[in-house]
Amino acid sequence: MRTSEIRDTFLQYFRERGHQPITGSTLIPPPGDPVLFTTSGMHPLTPYLEGQRHPLGRRLVNVQRCLRTTDLDEVGDRTHLTVFEMLGSWSLGDYDGPQSLRWGYELLRDGFGIPESRLHVTVFGGEERLGLLEPDSRSLGTWRELGVPVELTGEDNWWSNGPTGPCGPDSEIFVWTGEGTPVGTPGTDSRWVEVWNHVSMRYERRRDHTLHPLRQSNVDTGMGLERLMMVLGGKSSVYECDVFEPWTRTVSQLWPGLGIEDFRVVCDHLRSSVVVCGDGITPSNTGRGYVLRRLVRRLLTVLWRHDPGLTLGDLPDEPGLETLGHFGQPREWYPIREVLVGEERRFRSLLDRGRPVVSRLRRRGELTGGDFEYLRDTHGLPRDLVEELLLT
Ligand code: ALA
Repeated sequence: MRTSEIRDTFLQYFRERGHQPITGSTLIPPPGDPVLFTTSGMHPLTPYLEGQRHPLGRRLVNVQRCLRTTDLDEVGDRTHLTVFEMLGSWSLGDYDGPQSLRWGYELLRDGFGIPESRLHVTVFGGEERLGLLEPDSRSLGTWRELGVPVELTGEDNWWSNGPTGPCGPDSEIFVWTGEGTPVGTPGTDSRWVEVWNHVSMRYERRRDHTLHPLRQSNVDTGMGLERLMMVLGGKSSVYECDVFEPWTRTVSQLWPGLGIEDFRVVCDHLRSSVVVCGDGITPSNTGRGYVLRRLVRRLLTVLWRHDPGLTLGDLPDEPGLETLGHFGQPREWYPIREVLVGEERRFRSLLDRGRPVVSRLRRRGELTGGDFEYLRDTHGLPRDLVEELLLT
């Protein structure tokens, strides 16, 4: 299945069950949201989860582009991406969590053809720190009826949109990606890959950390499109998904010889930077612009460790244009190319200015903690950068 077929199958399944498709929003969450970027399909829906009536009704479905800075350090492995797409479905005070789990199970098994023997789930087992001791017995009972093995966890099965706001226990569905008969549980074997999270969003966390029932009990689900694609296609990583093809082809031709993790980081950060720029963000020292700056500088650090002469100016137009088209962003590659190349120029000149300073310090011996502080505070050179690019 291609990504577009997976998306259509998902949307169609929920439409047949009374869900109205809503247009995904940009990566910029609505004003007042506690996060910098849209990290999940529910962000634009917060007022409706809190009880406001949605003009399209109480059952919704969509595909939302998301960006997770919490996953940045994991990018390079098989399954984490900075920008990814989330297939989402919602019950706004309508059907309950067990109904959502039944539909989820049916769609994965009958719609996408995943054998039931390759499924495992996790369920909230109660957690004192969260102020809720009881396990989510309704989800537990539903999975037992369906015959799917369950693992109970604590905080790992609790979803919240930040320190305050709507939250609740969740149940995550994992698919076995190893060879042969599945072994272990999601908690003990990483070959179980999480694809779909179903949140019973029925609480609200207030500023004083107390937990209160929301006016209505909702269901909020999210499934990673690229991960589902990887699982269905029997691929070894999300980078083998068709939407990555323009980037993997370009990067392997332009800059051959990168190790597998570096290769993935470069592909991910390039594509993510294009999407972030496409939503109107430019590099800066704060907020969203800083995340973009980090992405571009991280990918250049990886490239320059390999060969300091490499430049983003060599990028052809095609992968950027493909990605902008895929996300329905204005297909204007040149302004984005300018942003990326401009950031590269600034980064290179920062390093050029830093190099003699580092050499001077080194003549006195090993760099001390104080030296690193001085380089960061006075010259804008963080320690990891000095170590990776200026001390080698
Ligand atoms: N909001 C839930 C998540 O992002 C579905 O996992």
